[in-house]
Amino acid sequence: MSVADTLLSQLKAAEVRLALAGIETARLDAEILMAHVLGCPRMALYGKLTAAVPQQAVSEFDALLSRRLTCEPVAYITGEQEFWSLPFKVTPDTLIPRPDTETLVETVLRQMDGLPVRRVLDLGTGSGCILLSLLHELRDALGTAVDISAGALSVAKENAVSLDLQERVEFFQGSWFAPLDKQAQFDVIVSNPPYIPSKDMAGLMADVRLYEPGSALDGGEDGLGPYRLIADQAPAFLAPGGLLAVEVGIHQAGDVMALFDAAGLVGTGKVKDLGGVERVLYGKKS
Ligand SMILES: C[S@@+](CC[C@H](N)C(=O)[O-])C[C@H]1O[C@@H](n2cnc3c(N)ncnc32)[C@H](O)[C@@H]1O
Repeated sequence: MSVADTLLSQLKAAEVRLALAGIETARLDAEILMAHVLGCPRMALYGKLTAAVPQQAVSEFDALLSRRLTCEPVAYITGEQEFWSLPFKVTPDTLIPRPDTETLVETVLRQMDGLPVRRVLDLGTGSGCILLSLLHELRDALGTAVDISAGALSVAKENAVSLDLQERVEFFQGSWFAPLDKQAQFDVIVSNPPYIPSKDMAGLMADVRLYEPGSALDGGEDGLGPYRLIADQAPAFLAPGGLLAVEVGIHQAGDVMALFDAAGLVGTGKVKDLGGVERVLYGKKS
């Protein structure tokens, strides 16, 4: 066996190729793609660094690397992204769940700690990561997922099945509150709506701009359109004492808080993500 055939040499060569293409997470990406090809956890690679990589696996790895070199996100290549320590299927129809969004899940659990949560509504569910993570934690709750994208909803349904939560979720295709029964009442409404101002879309990094669905990102002229609608209509769908919690983009917390105040929500607050950005806003119906 030549040195070039070892797992370590394959990873090093891939890292160099990705780094030269400007990919900042070159080594990590190479390891995730190799682990995907070999069908093992990434950490298991460290026990096999001097082992030979079968030719078939080298060819498959090369094909995946070529996709990554065009900036296709690793999660779309492997078809999976971990969120809240749970595995979520993702496709180009869904936004890739972000670690920052875990702040939203954490905020809901903290705000509702010790309170009964029977019904949770997730507006713009995408892969279902927020709602399904909440249902995983809140064992007595039922969930309602809404998305305008049929493709995203079908992925969210698959994720509900793989997490064995399908009996506790209903799915609606449509725009925000429109597909819901007008009498419906929820203890919690969550949303991570599209919030990038349209004029900023062209400046997004290539991974996002070229591959993630524009309808999951573009929040209209000032990026606040979905928040206006959600803050305005949420009180009618919240049970007394019910919680509205949303993720916001950088520098949007002040404007969205004004919308929460105008909607009459009380006990409002902001929560920073791990990067120190005001990422989540919440408020309750009195
Ligand atoms: C930022 S993504 C969030 C996806 C997922 N909740 C997450 O946090 O990863 C926004 C989602 O809102 C959906 N969406 C966009 N416009 C919508 C609308 N008018 N009504 C309902 N959903 C919408 C998109 O299809 C997308 O799935």
